[in-house]
Amino acid sequence: MDHFNYRQGELFAEDVALSCIARQVGSPVYIYSAATLRRHFGLFRQALDWTDHLVCFAVKSNSNLAVLKLMGDMGAGMDVVSGGEYARARAAGVPGDRIVFSGVGKTLAEMRMAIEGGIRQFNIESEPEMQALSALAASMGATVPVAIRVNPDVDAKTHEKIATGKSENKFGIPISRAREVYAEAAALPGLRVVGVDVHIGSQLTDLAPFRAAYAKVAELTQALRAEGHDITRLDLGGGLGIPYRRDNNAPPLPIEYGAVIRETVGHLGCEIEIEPGRNIVGNAGVLLSQVIYVKRGEDRDFLIVDAAMNDLLRPAMYGAHHDIVPVVEAAPGAPVQPYDVVGPVCESGDTFQKGAELPAMAAGDLIAFRSAGAYGAVMASEYNSRPLVPEVLVEGDHFAVIRARPTYEEMLSRDSIPAWL
Ligand code: LLP
Repeated sequence: MDHFNYRQGELFAEDVALSCIARQVGSPVYIYSAATLRRHFGLFRQALDWTDHLVCFAVKSNSNLAVLKLMGDMGAGMDVVSGGEYARARAAGVPGDRIVFSGVGKTLAEMRMAIEGGIRQFNIESEPEMQALSALAASMGATVPVAIRVNPDVDAKTHEKIATGKSENKFGIPISRAREVYAEAAALPGLRVVGVDVHIGSQLTDLAPFRAAYAKVAELTQALRAEGHDITRLDLGGGLGIPYRRDNNAPPLPIEYGAVIRETVGHLGCEIEIEPGRNIVGNAGVLLSQVIYVKRGEDRDFLIVDAAMNDLLRPAMYGAHHDIVPVVEAAPGAPVQPYDVVGPVCESGDTFQKGAELPAMAAGDLIAFRSAGAYGAVMASEYNSRPLVPEVLVEGDHFAVIRARPTYEEMLSRDSIPAWL
């Protein structure tokens, strides 16, 4: 459930009409609902209320400082995968001891930054990384908490580009070799082994792969404890999917996901960390856009809108579907017709949807791409020198621009022409 609803025939975010934001901020623009973010975060907390836990928001899904501050103020931890994300989490006021650092390619500079700034745990993804972190921490006179990310070789049954838990993926250490690697970790200076980490993929719509992976983690945890490792934390990753189509079967709820966690690892008495991103922020955001032209093609009509693949990359990159709805609600029974909804970028891949069923549209009409709060703004670029898409946060009856649209001058000022040209 989210807070984007029609009222008197117009789409609102909470108590603010989207058309009002379009007038003041222009389009395209991402619009987030604070109440939806709070609600979704609360659902995960509730799903784990049977145990000690920390819900670490996956910063990669939406890294706007205002979003991170809102989550951090509710007590969220953060899952970061780069120095930049670590800096954002800290700038949003999240203390280091609520930040976990994941990712296969942490550099020494990034690790140093997190050790100096404070960190809850590093999730280690390879032996070379483990050795580098050990040497660095020891040289700084520090001992850092670590979990080792294991690759359980479980098929997450999701899009191949966002599945991470199969042996052919670059992530984690094969679970078959985990005991060996934990033994090495225990012997290295500067590291304190505290847990086991796993993340098998994103946009999972079935609980079975989670169940399979977590059962393997439980078995491993018992074996590690028997070998003398003090495993007190399990980081179970993110990945719970969201409904991208309103007319479809909804994926499992956080409460059902929490029950799977309890069933599979609850008996171990570990503190549970999870790293949801999409499920918290995905349906808390829309991308608002305006029709520039309606163009009649040979056998179809194109709706050319002012958002493009540089603003919302998911359809071009993963063939992803985002429901497209008119901001002015169609009258009941009004006829719909198919449109190919496309952006202005010079690639045929800049197509959001073919044959989208919409009421008759005209230049100047507003539309909204739903479920765009996660992996939307964060994956945006300035391709075709289109200014980076701005972001707005709505709370009740007011809103704020939380990232402004750059002017052409600001865009150009980031380049410099060498004196010798
Ligand atoms: N933890 C780790 C270690 C991850 O790699 C990810 C996502 C998450 C947590 C959060 O997963 P979530 O709960 O959001 O599913 N750009 C793609 C999604 C990439 C996900 C990468 N890792 C998309 O637009 O679908």
